[in-house]
Amino acid sequence: PAGKPGPAGAVLDIADGVVVLDESFTDNPYPMYELLRARRPVTKVRMGMNPPVWLVTEYDDVRAGLADPRLAKDATKLARILRRAAGIPEDADAFDMGLHDHMLHSDGPEHTRLRKLVSKAFTGRAAALLRPRIEALAAELADAMAARLAAGEPSVDLIEDYAFPLPTTVICEILGVPDDRRAEFGGWSRTMLSTAQPYEKLVATEALEEYLDKLVAGKAADPGTDILSEILAPDEDADRLTHAEATAMASLLLVAGHETTVNLIGSGTLALLRNPEQLTRLRENPELLPGAVEEFLRLESPVTTSTMRFTDEEVTIGGTTIPAGEIVLLAIGSANRDPGRFERPDELDIERSTRGSMAFGHGVHYCLGAALGRIEGEVAFRVLLDRFPRLTLAVDPGELRWHNSILLRGLVALPVGTDG
Ligand code: HEM
Repeated sequence: PAGKPGPAGAVLDIADGVVVLDESFTDNPYPMYELLRARRPVTKVRMGMNPPVWLVTEYDDVRAGLADPRLAKDATKLARILRRAAGIPEDADAFDMGLHDHMLHSDGPEHTRLRKLVSKAFTGRAAALLRPRIEALAAELADAMAARLAAGEPSVDLIEDYAFPLPTTVICEILGVPDDRRAEFGGWSRTMLSTAQPYEKLVATEALEEYLDKLVAGKAADPGTDILSEILAPDEDADRLTHAEATAMASLLLVAGHETTVNLIGSGTLALLRNPEQLTRLRENPELLPGAVEEFLRLESPVTTSTMRFTDEEVTIGGTTIPAGEIVLLAIGSANRDPGRFERPDELDIERSTRGSMAFGHGVHYCLGAALGRIEGEVAFRVLLDRFPRLTLAVDPGELRWHNSILLRGLVALPVGTDG
């Protein structure tokens, strides 16, 4: 029933059978997730000017959906559906998937092939080898923040000064992006993900495409010791990525490496600052850190809805039938707080079992960078706790702003200080 307030004041605003989401959803999606799980667990939603999409919110449905091949990803078909939804003629160039035509937007044997060609570079062992470098980077960034606070600055921004530069430097180094271009990359990647500015988005995508085009051609002609060069080399079956595939792959890795771990570090730090007894427990028992990282990922899943899938045929989910050719998002952030799966789901409990958490996805598209993301998170928290024995939040929690994205959940800024 529309209009009747649900948990924590969330209200279902329904127009033509579609739930309308506004900025209060991206500020704090959890009351709405709770309301949807209770009243419309599989529903069409609309946000801003974007075409409506189906949102799936219950744990079991999200888990099944992430692994269901009928919820497909093929870039060409997806582009056609997006065009139709936006009222653009099917043959128009808009929504040409270009850089998005990568493994996260492919299915079946094509996906298997693309994934195989890069997975050698993203094993747990490869990630573990990066640990010392990640530690050195984290220490350098933490020292710089500490020095500024010691010099009398009232606060530093944990996002801009720590959580963002750490994983972005790592992924740029992995891919062999030279130092002087890294700041630009950050900007392009941010803009590409923002939903508000379609024109800027197009410009940023083109700039990134042009740059990656040259980077890939350069590495192919003159390979270095970076992972991009390794990915470009033929595998044991003499298969290799085409130039277009390699460019799209590099773009996927860059964006995935830029926009996810930053939010694990930012949201996890905020969760600790809001739960001082858990913070103390973690400081006193550093062996709890790997479990704490999993709990941060469950509680504030950085990828809060999955990337887009579409129904390749009519599919019934949780009793609701979705016609063929519709866009579906699986709400990982809702599933990870479903009380049917996790007790006291809204509480941070660094010692709970997070088994079944889908923060890194599930099924064939399970995150390729999970081992790397976990190590980056662990190192970031260890260094932060070591260097800042008295870390404090430097603003009123009500002033904190979250990115206006239905896909990614992360803080715009997190001002912190130290009280001694
Ligand atoms: C896929 C989360 C870090 C590379 C995914 C998916 C999720 C996810 C939920 C599946 C999306 C879907 O099915 O719609 C995360 C989180 C991270 C993280 C929470 C950090 C804490 C990284 C890093 C990289 C990376 C550091 C690599 C540099 C990828 C790739 C895929 C993926 C390539 C697509 C895999 C495929 O299609 O087979 N990630 N990710 N991720 N992630 Fe991550």
